[in-house]
Amino acid sequence: MSDNDMQAEIVLEHYREPHNYGTLENATVSMTESNPVCGDTVNISLLIEDGAVKDVKFVGKGCSISQASASMLTDRIMGKSLEELKEIDEESVIDMIGLKLGPSREKCALLSFNTLQKCIKEYQSSQ
Ligand code: FES
Repeated sequence: MSDNDMQAEIVLEHYREPHNYGTLENATVSMTESNPVCGDTVNISLLIEDGAVKDVKFVGKGCSISQASASMLTDRIMGKSLEELKEIDEESVIDMIGLKLGPSREKCALLSFNTLQKCIKEYQSSQ
């Protein structure tokens, strides 16, 4: 199996059995973003305590890349401080997927990132 096949399998596993799936009853902030091209959605809810992500969950509907990306991103931000969240940029999310993606698939990969940015903005404006 090539590295690319192995990475594709990892992405597919996240799609089939997403990590951190659900909604948080006690979320500090919860936001939904959609891809305007296809209408696919990701909702992320964050529990923020002492300036860090104490818990995170997501729900969504859409293609394998968008949903796998949300699963991987929520794993990545669990326990991270808000400062550390700011260090996550588009490029690092695309790298996290680890597959060669065309421009429209990059938008799929970034749907969860855009949702996270919306959450951070909302949280900061509420402080
Ligand atoms: Fe809609 Fe991928 S096709 S987010």
